[in-house]
Amino acid sequence: MPSSPTTAEPAEALAPCCAPLAGPGISAEEAGATAGLFKALANPTRIRIVNLLANSAQPVCVCEMNAHFALTQPTLSHHLKKLVDAGLLTREQRGTWAYYAVDDDSLGQLADIVRRKEVNGVTDVGEEVRDRYGKAARAVGREKQGAPDPDAGCCGASAGSCCDEGGAGFGNELYSLSEREALPQEAVLASLGCGNPAAVADLREGETVLDLGSGGGIDVLLSATRVGLTGKAYGLDMTNEMLSLALENKRKAGVDNVEFLKGYIEAVPLPTGTVDVIISNCVINLSTDKQAVFEEMHRVLRPGGRIGITDVVASSNLTPQQRAQRGSYFGCIAGALSFDEYERGLQQAGFADVEITSTHEVAEGIFSAVIKAARSG
Ligand SMILES: C[S@@+](CC[C@H](N)C(=O)[O-])C[C@H]1O[C@@H](n2cnc3c(N)ncnc32)[C@H](O)[C@@H]1O
Repeated sequence: MPSSPTTAEPAEALAPCCAPLAGPGISAEEAGATAGLFKALANPTRIRIVNLLANSAQPVCVCEMNAHFALTQPTLSHHLKKLVDAGLLTREQRGTWAYYAVDDDSLGQLADIVRRKEVNGVTDVGEEVRDRYGKAARAVGREKQGAPDPDAGCCGASAGSCCDEGGAGFGNELYSLSEREALPQEAVLASLGCGNPAAVADLREGETVLDLGSGGGIDVLLSATRVGLTGKAYGLDMTNEMLSLALENKRKAGVDNVEFLKGYIEAVPLPTGTVDVIISNCVINLSTDKQAVFEEMHRVLRPGGRIGITDVVASSNLTPQQRAQRGSYFGCIAGALSFDEYERGLQQAGFADVEITSTHEVAEGIFSAVIKAARSG
């Protein structure tokens, strides 16, 4: 019989006693500035106001908030002023009413304090996508004015880590001159897609179309023309700045049959069986839950409905690591599904007649493709 050991080191004694620090953290100055934001927010009513406005795609009139909060007008104004003074909200006077919106940069500053980030790489991919495309939307306004672009090199319209980072094969050159000339210039400048889905979806008069990840609204506006006044075009996007830009482009285009929704393509805020056609332009590759997107597409389509999507797709022989070597996730390359994976995912969600046809190469072995499929009747 082997003698039993008299001492046994606890297993955890072999592991290092504590994990090393993840990084230097923020500076004392940044911490001081951020403490002011938390102080302004340290009140239940003000947290509710910020939460309400953060979920609104457009600035909200104080008259709407009066009805929502059981507060006297002076008390509500006091809370709003505190938030504006701290830089958490913006205020705009329109006639007799003031309109309020959240300041995304300040909210991002608050979130960055508590959000876990990897030192090399990104933990919250969805948040990073929103951040980069928010910057891309802001860069459009500056490019239009010819102003210098402080976001260039990050996700500015002129360069950066959005879907146009590779340059050729993305953006507004994929549309005909007549299509571009008929649209507000900012809608054209904001184009970050890899195709022209409204053209490939064979849209008909009277149909209801949904664009997943509508960005500055280019494909929604083009779809609205194709489906006419008896039809309707919805755009869905999660990024406030993109939604604001799209709403402004809708106003400039003077179209009525268009509605932009705030939300996620993984949880579409529309009832089941209400859409005839789903389009999307270079967005699904950015989702971290692509199967949920396919299932949501199937849910909101009417029986007999169809998809006409353009997206980045990888050769089926490329491993995920090889895809990542060819371009970044945020640049719409590393997150691409392969042709086989795309087809299988759509079939698993219940789609039939899946066709995936490459149109042009955007990186070695990575293509822009047209994806069509039908929801059986
Ligand atoms: C590459 S841009 C394409 C925009 C537009 N389709 C175009 O062609 O210009 C990606 C857009 O999808 C949005 N987006 C990315 N992931 C999303 C998600 N999971 N839910 C909703 N919107 C998303 C981004 O905010 C951004 O506006």
